[in-house]
Amino acid sequence: MNIPESVAIIMDGNGRWARSKGMPRTYGHTVGAKNVENICRAADDIGIHYLTIYAFSTENWKRPENEVKTLMSLFLKYLKKCEKDCVENNMRIRLIGDREALSEELRDEIDYVEELSSKYTGLQFTIAINYGSRDEIIRASKKAFNKLISSGKTGDDLTEELFSSCLDTAGIPDPDLLIRTSGEERLSNFLLWQLAYSEFYFTKKPWPAFTKEDLLDAVSEYDRRNRRFGGV
Ligand code: FPP
Repeated sequence: MNIPESVAIIMDGNGRWARSKGMPRTYGHTVGAKNVENICRAADDIGIHYLTIYAFSTENWKRPENEVKTLMSLFLKYLKKCEKDCVENNMRIRLIGDREALSEELRDEIDYVEELSSKYTGLQFTIAINYGSRDEIIRASKKAFNKLISSGKTGDDLTEELFSSCLDTAGIPDPDLLIRTSGEERLSNFLLWQLAYSEFYFTKKPWPAFTKEDLLDAVSEYDRRNRRFGGV
């Protein structure tokens, strides 16, 4: 089977899944956070090398305060657990998104885990927190232009390579496959530049119920696709 090297996931449906069980939305996020660990292990077993997940968008601050608080504390808890897990699983962790708005405690933990895991060569796991693709593109544009100006060049010298190297995802291959759970079929401001040639896979399964078998179904579907990258 042709295994995608790089997979991105929009983990949708935590709230609806919890409500369908008569539970608060935050319960869906707690179970969803646990499932992140399962799917990381599954991705590694299957042979996926880069996994990128959408955990919190630049628009998610509009959610009720207690939900935002729960999500932030789940991120912190998850990263603290990773201090041990990334060593045991040879897993590298990176964060993408604008960190400025995150608490100092969370930013310090992100720096710590990124540094700690930077040498690991197994699953290359990336979490998008306070991430919005348009925001990333604007930040990357500023960086790229500043680089050009400081080396005496102009806007005409901008290349795709230079621009890509200024994105938060620099060094991470563009996703071969994008999965979105829970039935919605849109990108919601996720990796707009990076998904230019990715295959899309949508499933009705909500994120907390998404299993290794579901991931394998997505990979089998990917295997049946004929990618042409604009050629014939
Ligand atoms: C979308 O479901 C999910 C989110 C906005 C948050 C994703 C977060 C997690 C899975 C948990 C924490 C992650 C880590 C990395 C520890 P939704 O709430 O929009 O669901 P709905 O569409 O049913 O309302």
